[in-house]
Parts: sequence; structure tokens; C-alpha cells
Amino acid sequence: MMNIAIAGAGTIGSALIRLLASSDAATGIRVKAVLVRDLSKPRPGLPAGTRLTDKPAEIFSDPEIGAVIELMGGTDAAFEIASAALKAGKALVTANKNLLAERGPELFALAEKTRAPILFEAAVCAGMPIVRALRESLRADPIASLEGIVNGTTNYVLTRMTEEGLSYADALAEAKRLGLAEPDPSYDVSGRDAACKLGVLGTLAFGSYLDARDLGVTGIESLEAEDVKQAKAMGYLIKLLAAARRGANGSLDAEVGPVLLPLDHPLAAVRMEYNAVLVESRGLGKNLFMGRGAGPDPTAVSLLTDILDVAEGWARAPGTDDPFLMPKPALASPEEAGSRYYLRLSVPDRAGVLAKISSLFAGLGISIASVLQPESREASDVRSVPLIITTHRASRASMEKLSASLAGDGWGKPVVMRIQED
Ligand SMILES: NC(=O)c1ccc[n+]([C@@H]2O[C@H](COP(=O)([O-])OP(=O)(O)OC[C@H]3O[C@@H](n4cnc5c(N)ncnc54)[C@H](OP(=O)(O)O)[C@@H]3O)[C@@H](O)[C@H]2O)c1
Repeated sequence: MMNIAIAGAGTIGSALIRLLASSDAATGIRVKAVLVRDLSKPRPGLPAGTRLTDKPAEIFSDPEIGAVIELMGGTDAAFEIASAALKAGKALVTANKNLLAERGPELFALAEKTRAPILFEAAVCAGMPIVRALRESLRADPIASLEGIVNGTTNYVLTRMTEEGLSYADALAEAKRLGLAEPDPSYDVSGRDAACKLGVLGTLAFGSYLDARDLGVTGIESLEAEDVKQAKAMGYLIKLLAAARRGANGSLDAEVGPVLLPLDHPLAAVRMEYNAVLVESRGLGKNLFMGRGAGPDPTAVSLLTDILDVAEGWARAPGTDDPFLMPKPALASPEEAGSRYYLRLSVPDRAGVLAKISSLFAGLGISIASVLQPESREASDVRSVPLIITTHRASRASMEKLSASLAGDGWGKPVVMRIQED
């Protein structure tokens, strides 16, 4: 029998308490204490004999508690609880990607000293077993690249824009109605959620701490139905990708942003709120993991698996060579990183515009592959029309300069997306 304390009994904490009460696998686990902020809220389903408390010290001073399950969210209070648990020599199980992405190195350093394990399968892609796969199954095989659709909200929105031709605003409103987007969806649609997940997955995949705050991140907020339509006409789908790839010189090219994916790319088939991660490693080649990336019940399953690993003695304290303790990797510079690109501008519908814009491309050595100015059926008093340009391979640095020049010359900020070639 192992006694645990659950810190946080909100959406995920309640789902875990329900699963622990109903699962045959959990018969050896007893919830001894549950930590919350507000003791007056009703807590249905709390097992008889479980102590409800708002005093963290009660958990850490109890020698019978073997593991603390952190399900509070946020980073500050969660860090206090997580670090106190580790200092007390208790195993830490967490579903908190932000905590690991931002403060992982501090927690792992502490855990290494106190010989306490940290488990976090539920922190990235909820119920999909990608953390264990990277930490255990793939650890003997050097990973060349990791690409993922790791945010269900944005994948739902992009799927509805692609399949039904919805505008971004309508698709997002629908996602909110279905509970697939938060009332304030900015953390998801800006790509920041995906960046935190890439930070954690990239750390595991490439063996050194990938700090999400160092990554280039672009969201999907500027995308329009026109982008999705033109991408489809060119044989692509738009997906928000979290991607990291080891370059020839050993540096890591890692970024989050909307990407034009070929229709036959394995991630192009990942629809709606599903998550998937494609990992390419030297010996195994490509492996695709796909599953439910969010939701209380899948998350609770991953948490229970981690708790069982602690209870059964499989969980190990991190070594001094844990990826979270290794120095940050060198990131590819914008000059090294490159791709083909898609670019959309809104331009006045008059002669000479194309020549002026193409001279900006030429000045930066960016070779244009195609130009499209879709006909507008609207009246001639329409002032601006979309101009869609695809490029041959160009560096990220030159595309950044181009965007700045276009904005500086009064053409506005273009929508720029990488075009994936394989
Ligand atoms: N939702 C998902 O699908 C999903 C999937 C994977 C991972 N996660 C992660 O799971 C974690 C929990 O998310 P959630 O949606 O369950 O959050 P939530 O519903 O907001 O619940 C948070 C819980 O933590 C307690 N709490 C917060 N601050 C506290 C403090 N300072 N001291 C004591 N208790 C405190 C709250 O107490 P009160 O009840 O008293 O307010 C509440 O019970 C987050 O890290 C989230 O990112 C969520």
C-alpha cells in the first residue's frame, strides 16, 4: 500500500480521485491527503478517511506519504509544493508542463540531490504515452527530429477551417462552444502552449534542456480562410507544428508555428482535437504516436501509470546526466535555418505593385517560386486584394528581413509560413 497526497482537486485532481476509486489497478494506492486553496468548496467523491487540507506543511511532514501528485497548475505555488515534496524525499508526479518547461532544471537538480523521482507522463499530450517513449523506449536511439501537433485547440480550429471553409473566428467560436477552447484562448492560439510542450519533449528527445522561452513561436491568429484555401489548392494542409531537428553541425533547429504540410505527410491525417508526435531516430526510423492530447480522463490514466511506477518501485531518481540538468543546446541561427516559404500580403489592386514587391525579394536574394493574386468577384471599389507568394528555399533570417522591409515600406505585416518539403 502506498499513501499519496494530491495537491489540487480541480478538473484533473477530481478525475484522478474518481479513477483511483474505480480502477482495479489502483487498489494499492490510498489518497491520504488532498491539498486545496478553498476548504469550503464541496468535494464530492473524496474517499472516506482522506484529509482535506489547505496547509501544505501537513503533507510534507507526514512520513507515511510516499508521493505528491501536483495538479494545481501555474508555476509559482506549484513550484513551492513540488520543491517541498522533493526536499522531503517524496516522489513527485505532475501534470504541469509549464512548471517543467520553466523550472525543470531546478526541480531535477533538487531531485537528484534528495534521490526522489519526478514523473510527468500527463504533462505533455495528456494521455498519449510520449514521455515514457522518449525517456525509455527510444533512449538508445539518437533522435534526428521530432515534429508534433501538440495543441488540440488549434488543431480543431485548423481542421474546421480546412474541412468546412470556416473563418478563423467562426472555427474558434465553435471550439469554445464545444469546450475545446478556453474562454480566453490566447495561450493556445498564440502557440505558447505548444512551445512549452516542445520544450519538455525536446529536452527528452535531444538530451539537454530546451528552454521554451528561447524558441521562435508563431500562432495561428493571423490565418484566414484564404490561406487554408490556397494551401489546399497547392496540395498542402496547414497545421500548427512544434518541431525540432538536429542540424548537420549539431545545432538544434526548433520552432513552433503554422506550417504547410504535404497531404501525404503522416501528421496531415491528424484531425480535430487529436495530438500526434512523429519521431525520427537513427535505428528505428519514423515512429508516429497519436492520441488524446487533453481531457481529464486520459490525463488521469497517465497520472495513475506514473503513481503505479512509484508504488511498484520502478521510478528512479534522476542522475546527474538527466536531460533537464544538461546545458542548453546550441540553437540553429536564423541564417542556418531555412525552408521554402508561403507568404500572404494584402495589397492595393493597382498596376506596379507586384514589381515593387518582387524587387524587395530580389534585393534579399529570395527566389520567388510562384505568385498568385486571386480574382475578386467583388466590385472594383475593393481597395486591397490578397497576394500570395511562395519561395524557393530561403533562410529564416532573409524572410525575417523581408517581413520587416514589407512592413517598413507600408505593405503591412505579411503572414509567413514554412512549406514542409518532406
Ligand atoms: N485540463 C486538461 O486537459 C489537462 C491535461 C493535462 C494536464 N493538465 C494540467 O493539470 C493541471 C491541473 O489543471 P486543472 O484544469 O485541474 O486545474 P484547476 O481545475 O484550476 O484546479 C486547480 C486545483 O488546484 C488547487 N490550487 C490552486 N492553487 C493552489 C494553492 N496555491 N494552494 C492549494 N491549492 C491550490 C485549486 O484549489 P481550489 O479547488 O480550492 O480552488 C484546485 O483544486 C495543470 O497544470 C494543467 O496544465 C490539464
